[in-house]
Amino acid sequence: MKISQTINTLRDVITQWKKEGQCIGLVPTMGNLHAGHIELVNQAKAQCDKVVVSIFVNPLQFNEARDFNAYPKTRDADQQKLIAAKADLLFLPDSEIMYPQGQQLSTIISVPKISEELEGEHRPGHFDGVATVVNKLFNLVQPQRAFFGEKDFQQLLLIRKMVQDLNMPIDIESVATCREADGLAMSSRNSRLTVEQRRIAPELYSVLQKLARQLEYNEKSIQQLESEAMQTLKQQGFEPEYVSVRASSDLQAVTQQTLDKVVLAAARLGDVRLIDNLSSHKL
Ligand code: PAF
Repeated sequence: MKISQTINTLRDVITQWKKEGQCIGLVPTMGNLHAGHIELVNQAKAQCDKVVVSIFVNPLQFNEARDFNAYPKTRDADQQKLIAAKADLLFLPDSEIMYPQGQQLSTIISVPKISEELEGEHRPGHFDGVATVVNKLFNLVQPQRAFFGEKDFQQLLLIRKMVQDLNMPIDIESVATCREADGLAMSSRNSRLTVEQRRIAPELYSVLQKLARQLEYNEKSIQQLESEAMQTLKQQGFEPEYVSVRASSDLQAVTQQTLDKVVLAAARLGDVRLIDNLSSHKL
């Protein structure tokens, strides 16, 4: 596996691959790789000739400095996992490379509406940071395909919208959430849970499953189901931020016409913020 820490060395490889007519797949990550990331790499390997994985803990998308500082950095282990998964190139830029003039002076990409809902409401500026860094990675790697996990459902929709609005010739491929045996969605943040928090954490997914099943019965209003789910999470020891049923296509409020729905939730266990979602057609 090639490793590139600069834009010039990355561009040299990409230019050569493009000349050879190779189809390039990109898996953008922030490192601390787990089986969910490796599944993204596997999907990219299956669909592309060359797979680039980027690892960059993007300061622009963290609205809390302590969350940024606590983000686990496991470069050596990540590298070994990517070699085993047969990634072709690891792009490892640092902040000076990605934001040479500092974050304040950078051009920002903002995807309206979808950025303001749910995660956007609770993490101001987060999605501008995501859209900006993903845009830069797309410009640098120029992939034909890019792979994102469904665990970050709102991020996935936001990136699809950005690609559509800006006419980027990139297919956005979504990959199903990888879960632990007890249902907990895999996340780099899980490693920061205490033993007791780890025991409680799968309840987030159980609550989503219960809510999604109840939606089908149509016996209670959506607001009632959401507030009961919040209550259950509180009783289990979470500090829930939201549990919300939305239209899968654009995350707007559900109407009589909405066919596909998704239930999304964010909740804290101590210092660790967990998110998860479940699409109603997946029940
Ligand atoms: O999902 C992530 O890990 C990040 O938001 C991404 C897409 C790599 C952008 O920094």
